[in-house]
Amino acid sequence: MSALAVSHVYPLRSRLNERGRLELGGCDVVELAAEFGTPAYVYAEDDMRARARTFVEAFRARSERFEVIYASKAFPCTAAYRLFAEEGLSADVASGGELHLALAAGMDPKRLYMHGNNKSPAELDYAIESGIGHIVVDSFDEIERLRGRSQRVMLRVTPGIEPSTHSYIQTGQVDSKFGFPMAEVPRALEECAAAGLELRGLHAHIGSQILDVEVFEKLGELLSAMGEFPLLNLGGGLGIAYTPEDRPPSVEDYVEALLRHVPDGVTVLCEPGRALVGNAGVTLYTVGTVKRIPDVRTYVSVDGGMSDNLRPMLYGARYEAEIADRFGGNEVCTIAGMHCESGDVLVRDVALNDPRVGDILVIPATGAYGHAMANNYNAKPRPPVIFCRDGEARVVVRRETYEDLTLRDC
Ligand SMILES: Cc1ncc(COP(=O)(O)O)c(C=O)c1O
Repeated sequence: MSALAVSHVYPLRSRLNERGRLELGGCDVVELAAEFGTPAYVYAEDDMRARARTFVEAFRARSERFEVIYASKAFPCTAAYRLFAEEGLSADVASGGELHLALAAGMDPKRLYMHGNNKSPAELDYAIESGIGHIVVDSFDEIERLRGRSQRVMLRVTPGIEPSTHSYIQTGQVDSKFGFPMAEVPRALEECAAAGLELRGLHAHIGSQILDVEVFEKLGELLSAMGEFPLLNLGGGLGIAYTPEDRPPSVEDYVEALLRHVPDGVTVLCEPGRALVGNAGVTLYTVGTVKRIPDVRTYVSVDGGMSDNLRPMLYGARYEAEIADRFGGNEVCTIAGMHCESGDVLVRDVALNDPRVGDILVIPATGAYGHAMANNYNAKPRPPVIFCRDGEARVVVRRETYEDLTLRDC
């Protein structure tokens, strides 16, 4: 059998190898499962690097003033921070913990932005003492908390733009826990100045998984009209393909839209998370049971579930799945997790090729918010993270053990 390409949902340059098995980063995933066990998050390192370069090059072709900021909440892992720093990206962190990981990875604190609608005094102290580049101020209470600190800040605003995405991942509407409504911006600017903060610009984030780039044009126009600032962060997560039918906009179109209405001299910032890591990663599972209920449904149960991928349960996210060495097929199945919850369903109604106990099942496009949202429900140890490149695989986060589960007990 000769090698075959797979859909754009899988990491760039993935293929079915001569044995009919999925290969990514040059590694055969069935062999990876045998070596590292399942469940496991597997990433193609070159995919992440290529996507980072696409963003940088799309800006560089159009502007000298830009900053691509890795929204690290999508995949907060020291190996990822390091990789994106090597590609020239900055990073944003949404908690003291993410800041800790970025610093542990060796990132330059000046290249970091801290977000959050309720940063604690301890988190703010940690950020300032670490020499963080910018804090994205979110509320009047936070301005109070920062009074007297000579810190560079940006102001997070809610521009009232509502992209067509799930309401749980919309962030820019006026009815939001984040940021300042536009009407409050003049007072917030005054308060920042009175508090001695160095205000560098405005920040907005209008939501995630955005498939229509026109909203970014609108955002650029709106924020540019708010005054003259050196920096404008036109945040909002560019959408990715979770299933082969999804056709997200190109990075070129996205960057074009960001820059369209922003005057020369302003540095445009954007902060992609999932668009940098989502399609780079897949999750490998082992099929443990196949329950065929005649005329009702076939449940294919795997050795992970809502502890390693919460998105389907949190907001009905849709994924693709395949048997790693038998792509294709037409047996409609529901992929269930191993957790003690009927709602622990990873993918409903997906066509598989004759699923059997012991098969390795792959769910693609889990590179964003899989590892990030992993939890220990049912005291399930969290999976390892494995990076693949040129046929070499390395563990960058080891699998949790049962011993890890009691480490915090006193
Ligand atoms: C402020 C901010 N920046 C960036 C992101 C990253 O979004 P995405 O992973 O969809 O690119 C988010 C996601 O919620 C966010 O809230």
